[in-house]
Amino acid sequence: METVYVRRLRKHYGELCALDDVSFDVARGEVFGLVGPKGSGKTTAMEILQGRRARCGGEVLVLGVDPAVAARVHRERIGVVPQETDHDGMCTPRELVRYRAATCARPRPVDEVLEMVGLAGKRDVRIETLSLGEQRCVDLAVALIGAPELLLLDEPTTAFDPASRRNVGAVMEELGARGTTVVLTTNRVAEARQFADRVGVLAAGKMIAVGAPDELADRSGSERRIIRFSLPEHVPGCDLPDAGHLLTIGLDRIVELRSARPTRDLEWLNRWAKERDVLLEDLTLAPPTFEDAYLELIGQA
Ligand SMILES: Nc1ncnc2c1ncn2[C@@H]1O[C@H](COP(=O)(O)OP(=O)(O)OP(=O)(O)O)[C@@H](O)[C@H]1O
Ligand SMILES: [Mg+2]
Repeated sequence: METVYVRRLRKHYGELCALDDVSFDVARGEVFGLVGPKGSGKTTAMEILQGRRARCGGEVLVLGVDPAVAARVHRERIGVVPQETDHDGMCTPRELVRYRAATCARPRPVDEVLEMVGLAGKRDVRIETLSLGEQRCVDLAVALIGAPELLLLDEPTTAFDPASRRNVGAVMEELGARGTTVVLTTNRVAEARQFADRVGVLAAGKMIAVGAPDELADRSGSERRIIRFSLPEHVPGCDLPDAGHLLTIGLDRIVELRSARPTRDLEWLNRWAKERDVLLEDLTLAPPTFEDAYLELIGQA
């Protein structure tokens, strides 16, 4: 049986449809990433899985139980990092995690958990003196202490630096190997690709794609290539030729062209550059990545 089973989930806030016919499954031991722009319904979905928010329709089973009617013993099988937390800043990570441990049936050793999240060196300082990223590690420790079967992490890496992000990735991998299931949300696409075995892409309350990041990249068009180069400072963006197919330029002056016929497109691009004496710096040609696929999906939605 799936650890998380969601079918045709709907949630309205008054007139606003926050989740519209959302379906996905998460298997035991899997890390599943819910990825989407702000306001796309990620937190709403996570709160429904936790049983903290009522749904308007659809079927939801978490560890085989409908979260809307789950008892406390069921909730203890789930570790949660909410998007926003409010700690008592006067207590220390060790005190807080120890207190939570006392409410669990089979807690992990407190110091082991603090070590796991990289807080061993700061376990006895007041939480209010910790950085925001370190406070997020306290949240993660609280979620892990009960040795949950399922972790629901809503933007767990806000305020993280790349090193702590890598550490959380390693923790999730280890937990996954031991059979713990993880559902996490993020609006960072690179992070979803890095952490998740499979992702679900939410846009304006609709699940527009579900699959492994590489699979979604392939689906986005194995016949197509992304041509990229940086446009020199002295060339205005409006000088770029009208390619007629998805030519975009970012603030960083990186120009991207999605091409079904890369050889032909490189040819005219070169001709254009030669005529204007423009150097196509850092020119690359590559298959679409998951990030490319994501941006395209979100764009279409
Ligand atoms: N309690 C609420 N009452 C009314 N509308 C709400 C409520 N909670 C969320 N919404 C709306 O529902 C939509 C989805 O919100 P949600 O918080 O689930 O998005 P999200 O994907 O988690 O966004 P973010 O990335 O910013 O955290 C938004 O348009 C939001 O304004
Ligand atoms: Mg959210």
